[in-house]
Parts: sequence; C-alpha cells; structure tokens
Amino acid sequence: MTRESWHTRLGFILAAVGSAVGLGNVWRFPWMTAENGGSAFLVVYLAIVLLVGVPGLLAEFVIGRRSNRNPAGAMFRLSSGSKSWGMVGLFGVVTAVVLLSFYSVVGGWIVRYFLSSFIGSYHAAPAAYFSGIDFGIGAAFYHVVFLSLTAFIVVGGVRDGIEKATKVMMPLILLLLGALAVWATSQPGAGAGLEFYLNFDAAYLQNNFFDVLGAAAGQALFTLSLGVGTMITYASYLGDDNDLALDGSIIAVLNTGVGVLAGLVVFPLLFATLGELSGTAAKGGAGALFISLAGAFSQVPFGTVLSVLFFGVITLAALSSSISMLEIPVAYLVDEHDMERRNATLGLAGLILFTGSANALNPALFDFVASTLVDLMLTTGLVGFLVFAGWVLGKDALSEFSAGAGRSRAIGPAWLWSIRTVLPVFLAGTLLVNLLALAGFSVGDLLAFVVP
Ligand code: PHE
Repeated sequence: MTRESWHTRLGFILAAVGSAVGLGNVWRFPWMTAENGGSAFLVVYLAIVLLVGVPGLLAEFVIGRRSNRNPAGAMFRLSSGSKSWGMVGLFGVVTAVVLLSFYSVVGGWIVRYFLSSFIGSYHAAPAAYFSGIDFGIGAAFYHVVFLSLTAFIVVGGVRDGIEKATKVMMPLILLLLGALAVWATSQPGAGAGLEFYLNFDAAYLQNNFFDVLGAAAGQALFTLSLGVGTMITYASYLGDDNDLALDGSIIAVLNTGVGVLAGLVVFPLLFATLGELSGTAAKGGAGALFISLAGAFSQVPFGTVLSVLFFGVITLAALSSSISMLEIPVAYLVDEHDMERRNATLGLAGLILFTGSANALNPALFDFVASTLVDLMLTTGLVGFLVFAGWVLGKDALSEFSAGAGRSRAIGPAWLWSIRTVLPVFLAGTLLVNLLALAGFSVGDLLAFVVP
C-alpha cells in the first residue's frame, strides 16, 4: 500500500498553520502577553519564535520528510534500528494522546459556548454559567462531541480529511478573526484595552526576566505545535521539492499574526464593555476567556451574531489543531502496526474518550495536565528531536534541509549548529527551571545558592 501524501504545497502549509493556530493563539497568547509586560513580552516572544521555534520546526520537518514515517518509526529507522531513539519518538506519540486528552475537554467547552451563543444561555450570569459546565458529566459529554468531530476528519485521511478540512477552515478563521478585530478595535473605549495589551512594560521584563523567558519559551513551543511530533508527522507526507525553511517561516509568521489578531479582539472588547479588567479577567487562564468574553458579548449590539462568529472561529481553530494531535498516533499505528486508518482512528478515539473524560471529571487532574505535564513533555520531546536531528542525522539533516531549498540553503549550516548546541542547552535550562518551580524553588533561589 502506498503511503499517503499532501496534494499541494498550499495544502501542507495550511494544514501546518492549522495545527499551530489553536487555543494557544486565541486563548493563551493574549493573556500571557498582557500578564507578562505587554509588548515587552511580545519582543521576547518573537525573538524566541525566531531563534528557537523556527529552527525546532525545521528539525521536525527534516526528520519527518527524510523518513516518511511517524515520529517513532522515523527515529527508529533513521538511527538504523536504535530502540532507544525509537522510544524517544514513541514518547512523542504518547504525549500526543496526553495532550489531546485535555485539549479535547477545552474543545468541548468551546463547542458548548458556540451552541449556547445562539440562544444566549450565558448572558444572565456568565461566571455561574461557566462554573456550571466546566467539569462534570456535561463537560465529558461535550469532550466526546469535540473528539468525534476530530476523529471524523482524521478518518478521511491526509488528503481527503485533513487537507480538505484545513483548506476551508484556515481562510475562514483569518477572515472572521480579522473582521472581528476591526470591529472590536473600533468600539468606543477600546483604546484602554490596547493600552493594557500592548503597553511596553520594560521594568516588568527586567525584574522577571527568567520567568518571562520561561513563559515565552513554553508558549512558543506550544503554539508552534513542537515537541510532540506533529510537524514530523505532517512533513512525513511531503515530497522532496518543498523549501522547508521558507515554508516553516511562513507558518511561524501566520501563526504569530493570528495570536496578535486574537489579542486585538479580546482586549478592546473587554475594555469597551467592562471598562477595566477585574477578578477572573485580570487573572487570565481557563475561565477568563469564557467568562469575561461571554459577559462582554451580552452587552454589545448584535452580541448574538458576534458571539456565534467568535466561538465559531475558536471551534475551527481548536479542531484544526486537535486533528494534528490525533494524526500522530494514527500514523504510528498505520505505519508500524499495519492497521487500517479507520480502525486506528476509532481505537484511539475510544481510548481518549476515557482519558479525556478523566480530565473532564477531575479538575485537579486537568490543571496538572494542562498547566504542568504538557509543558514538561513538550520541552523534553523537542530536546530529543533536536539532539536527534543535530547529532544522529548530522550531515544528512543538512542535505535534507537543502533539498528543495532556494536561497534559504545559505542558513543551513547555522541552523545545524544551533540545533546541536545552544538550543538543546537552552531548552534543557527551561526544563530545569520548570522542574525547580514544581519543587517550589525559583531561579532566584538557585542563583543565590550558586553565587553567594
Ligand atoms: N499549536 C496548538 C495550539 O496553539 C496546540 C498544539 C500543540 C497542537 C502541539 C499540536 C501539537 O493550540
């Protein structure tokens, strides 16, 4: 049986942008920016996307395209049968399942908000509405709805499922989000929201440099879908004629653009209606988007239409990401265990139905998975991919990078150097900081210890 492949280059790019653009952009990014020093954070974040994100993306692309395999099969084969490297790839496959088990719960919330936007169920009491639906049987049910939508697309295959779906979804997302941003920023009172969002807080950056760096690195990985093997898997369906560096840059630029755009919708809207951020909104996080925005939509003219559009956009963005998560273990079962795509997809959906429901029923578990476990797993995974591409593939990585490349060929050697040296060290450093934080220490404590 011949392996599947993308139909067009645009199809690949849109699918990869679809994977990147998701809850990370519309939900996490605006809040992280606002909380971490506004445009000062944005500058650090952009630098990390450019210096860590894009090279990491290219490392995954190189592994995927060279092997035409899922992460586990790719690393096993390209290392001439090393079981240990195969396990590193398999770690990515497992991470994908863990990731989707929480992502699908949030996806379920969004589907529910989308549906209730039509009748305005949350208008009267947005906070009470959210705390009534966030965890429990209802949350598990909507998680299953979202998961079913995801599986429905993935069953269709690479060309007829993922590529076709993202080709429709991505332009729609850009268009609607752009229109919403124009509308939101032209509301009276929107200026204060922009000020809050983008105000350049240099002092904050200076005083919390390591925290900001860690936050920006985590966000860059998550938003570019790195460290799981999504990009390995998507690139495994490519032929040799893509300019990987060019495609990777386009993907990173579009992804960042959507994040910034989402902030231009969220903050002007909140400030225009509420006048300031207080309580949950100021804290950001899971509830904030839902509670404050739902509240805001109940106060503006045409709120019903606008909220349907808004939650519709987020549903599409979340779906175009969740399909890329499910595709990883599906590709693994199809490639390595000769399973039919249909059976692989249904079997995995059945598994995630349970693991996701556990998150939907247990808030403490959900919090741990969403805010800690996933970050640690992504960082660990990416370190593995970088070391693999840099040291195991080495020169071969460079020739794969150059295949199909135009002028971008010139940066190949610098790229190889970076993924061999500074980037794994940098990521291992952020991993250490996060682990320390988990144990209750800060970088400050550590420095005080090392430098008395
Ligand atoms: N990039 C996606 C988002 O921002 C999340 C994601 C992470 C998707 C890892 C696939 C793999 O929502």
